[in-house]
Amino acid sequence: MISQNTIQQILNRIDIVEIVGSFVKLKKRGANYLGLCPFHNEKSPSFTVSGSKEIYKCFGCGKSGNTINFLMEHEKYSYVEALRWLAQRYGVEIEEKEVSPEVKAQQQLADSLFIINNFARDYFVNTLFNTEEGQSVGLSYFEERGFSEEIIRKFQLGYCLNERDAFVRTAVAKGYNQEYLQKTGLVTIRNEQPVDNYRGRVIFPIHNQSGKVLGFGARILVKSDRAPKYINSPENDIYVKSKVLYGTYFARHAIDRLNECLLVEGYTDVISLHQAGIENVVASSGTSLTTDQLRLIKKFTNNLTILYDGDNAGIKAALRGLDMAIEEGLNVKLALIPDKEDPDSYVRKIGAEGFRQFIAEKKQDFILFKLQVSLQEAGNDTAKKSQLVNEIAETIARIDKVEDFTRQQDYIRQCSQLLKIDEGGMVTLVNKYIRERLTKQAAQQTRQQTSQQQEDGPSLAEQYPEYFQDDQAPEAAIDNLFNRDERQERELVKILLRFGDKPFSEEAQNTVADYIFHLPYDFESLADSEVVKKILREYKTHYDQGNPLDKKWFLYHQDGDIAKNVALILEDKEAELSPNWADRFEIKTVYGDNAYLKDTISTTNYLILRKIKKLIIENQQEMEKATELEVQMKCVEMHQHLKQLEQELTQQLGMVIFR
Ligand code: CTP
Ligand code: MN
Repeated sequence: MISQNTIQQILNRIDIVEIVGSFVKLKKRGANYLGLCPFHNEKSPSFTVSGSKEIYKCFGCGKSGNTINFLMEHEKYSYVEALRWLAQRYGVEIEEKEVSPEVKAQQQLADSLFIINNFARDYFVNTLFNTEEGQSVGLSYFEERGFSEEIIRKFQLGYCLNERDAFVRTAVAKGYNQEYLQKTGLVTIRNEQPVDNYRGRVIFPIHNQSGKVLGFGARILVKSDRAPKYINSPENDIYVKSKVLYGTYFARHAIDRLNECLLVEGYTDVISLHQAGIENVVASSGTSLTTDQLRLIKKFTNNLTILYDGDNAGIKAALRGLDMAIEEGLNVKLALIPDKEDPDSYVRKIGAEGFRQFIAEKKQDFILFKLQVSLQEAGNDTAKKSQLVNEIAETIARIDKVEDFTRQQDYIRQCSQLLKIDEGGMVTLVNKYIRERLTKQAAQQTRQQTSQQQEDGPSLAEQYPEYFQDDQAPEAAIDNLFNRDERQERELVKILLRFGDKPFSEEAQNTVADYIFHLPYDFESLADSEVVKKILREYKTHYDQGNPLDKKWFLYHQDGDIAKNVALILEDKEAELSPNWADRFEIKTVYGDNAYLKDTISTTNYLILRKIKKLIIENQQEMEKATELEVQMKCVEMHQHLKQLEQELTQQLGMVIFR
């Protein structure tokens, strides 16, 4: 855990123009900088960086964010990785927050494994190029396969000598821990002696998205029934097979640019395609796709194109993952590589241009492909066919994002044609599955929310009758209401972030934040918006500890939802008190130039009054329901009390009207 202090130091030094400028060529244009967008293909620049606002925005593809977002997007770093990268760049020493001994030990172990893998990679590369055996066996194998030196160096391919313990001896002599060497799979124990595990094999390092070596695949050079073709690193603290796709580090920018990720099976497929200039490609390494891998792809693009060979078991495995991919919101396409070929051999056979053309022409929709395959299998069996209709309807029902509605309609049309059934029937069936899913989800939510709802009380229309006049469509009314209420909640956040540390009252010697947090109301629970709640909670926690957070902290927040919303909140002109507001509430201008004082008071009071109004309505309802006189009297008393509170608050603060 990086300490708050360190993060603040890093944030204070951020210069977005300089950071983005080290990845994208920028030219000054007025107050901003302009360049070619690194996230999509373009010929004339529409990628803008604003130094003063500390944001970038592409007017072509719409990508935007701050410096940390840029590093996360462009380098595929996590939030913490981006911070570490910046710290290194600016020479900020990272002060770690106290972590538990277990976490610390785990971090150290992971670091050690990375260091060993790094050493091993260099060692194997060196062996390949600079030893006689490396050249005559390893290098000539790669050359035979048509790999250029450039591509061998790029992918950091290597060779492990066909000797018992050449590697492990060197590693141990250099002081590397033998236990860790075993954990990485580079070394095994035979007859109680450490021996090299990858003897006489060529080495494919497996990188994570930022280029660190997680593990290795080691390929045998001769056909053998006794030894496996590849020996891969075992799973350990850094190599978790289900989360890795081979080649992401080398493919990430091309995937961004082309907005498509090609998926192949093997290490050599990735490398050959790269050599042919097709760089947006990753490999599943011969296993079926996992949800984690699909999410990894989704970080880059929504468009996944699978390149497998036709009668391969891989296809069946991929088909099984189809529903998962659809739920992740991926558009899955498939191009079948002709018999007896794989992408590696095929691209060498027909050339880069031919291969590109082949993908463009042959790639088909995966859902339709699945349907065709299953239709063939079903033949004339009506029972099988009706089962198929249900299956496909269920698959289509999983496309449940609003923005995908047309896609869903397209599938319904195309699938009913293929199945030779009535389109209306298909729509009904798909809707049935959608309803089922929604009911299931709703049931889950109700279970979570029942307790909440009891507190929520009356309906919106009951609470705010003035917004639900007859001439108004209910949606518009709700819109109206939420706009105003949510705007006030966001306004409170803005006041805290902008003016939290400014003086509030000379007399009381307090700040705006002091004022807000010493009111007898808990604004976190008064707020409806989840993101406002989150921000208030975090702000309050740090405020209570005596080190309040500033707006930068939230603008660069790890939680993207918070960062985005705070950027909007601080930008939002509308959320500022409008003349409207002053008219409406006739706020006296006793606060002089310190408009923020006025804003603070009117915003907090709006939220408090909203709460009181809610209570009044709840109380009235209780009164109506009450049958016993005693209860009724209590309610009347309460009503008077609340009304008085309402009036006092309104008057005291110079508000004449609050409907
Ligand atoms: N694989 C593996 N272990 C094996 C066989 C295969 O881990 N015994 C994985 C490797 O990641 C391999 C992928 O499955 O890259 C695809 O297998 P295959 O097509 O057999 O290997 P290629 O990479 O195509 O190797 P080559 O072209 O050299 O045959
Ligand atoms: Mn192959």
